[in-house]
Amino acid sequence: MNPDEMSRRRSGILREMGLAPLWKLRSEVQSAPVSLAQPKSSAVETSLPTAVDQRAGAIAAMGWEELRASVAACRACELCQARKQAVLGVGDLSPDWLFVGEGPGAEEDQRGEPFVGQAGKLLDAMLAAIGLQRGRNVYIANTVKCRPPANRTPTPAETAACWPYLERQIALLKPKLIVALGKPAAQTLLQKEVKVGEARGRLFEHNGIPLIVTYHPAYLLRTLQDKAKAWEDLCFARASMRKLQV
Ligand code: URA
Ligand code: SF4
Repeated sequence: MNPDEMSRRRSGILREMGLAPLWKLRSEVQSAPVSLAQPKSSAVETSLPTAVDQRAGAIAAMGWEELRASVAACRACELCQARKQAVLGVGDLSPDWLFVGEGPGAEEDQRGEPFVGQAGKLLDAMLAAIGLQRGRNVYIANTVKCRPPANRTPTPAETAACWPYLERQIALLKPKLIVALGKPAAQTLLQKEVKVGEARGRLFEHNGIPLIVTYHPAYLLRTLQDKAKAWEDLCFARASMRKLQV
């Protein structure tokens, strides 16, 4: 198949999956992602690039090596203060699947790899349930790269500060499907308020990439009754991926 045919076929599939109208809607209203907490005023948009814009622009041009070095040295939000190390992500660099969690916990901060503690064991089991394995056609990242103290939820200012890194990762990885694990990941990727219970089972998109929302594994460890729903979500993700892979 030539690239044109492939792209026509892909649009057909996405239309069938109910994504194409959403694309149109988004592209009509789309502007650069902004923080939920700090909407830009029009005055800011018409002025010279701010330091924040310049930083985002620089990150948007980085390759993996620069990205890794930049994250390791980053002091753009308060989370830099208590971290042992920043945790960029792990896995296949041209994956079909991208899973995005919240932020590193104690073990991740120690070892420099996402999802290696208790929640990570559950994530590995969730991956295995749909025939996936860490690092094989899968990349795992977090919304914030540095551990929030006492594993608190990252603030909107922190997720906004870290967003350019995740955005660059997505641009470099070009996954076919993104799975947002929990509210902070979903809200950051969709740039709007999200209730996981309401968003699950639906297909969203981020910059044209299909996106599914499900519960965070750490939440599932505490809330066993929602495990069945997470299983449904994984089946939905697998079915969506099958359509995307044809
Ligand atoms: N929880 C997350 O969201 N990410 C990790 O890397 C570990 C636990
Ligand atoms: Fe930088 Fe992100 Fe770490 Fe904040 S969480 S210091 S923005 S790498």
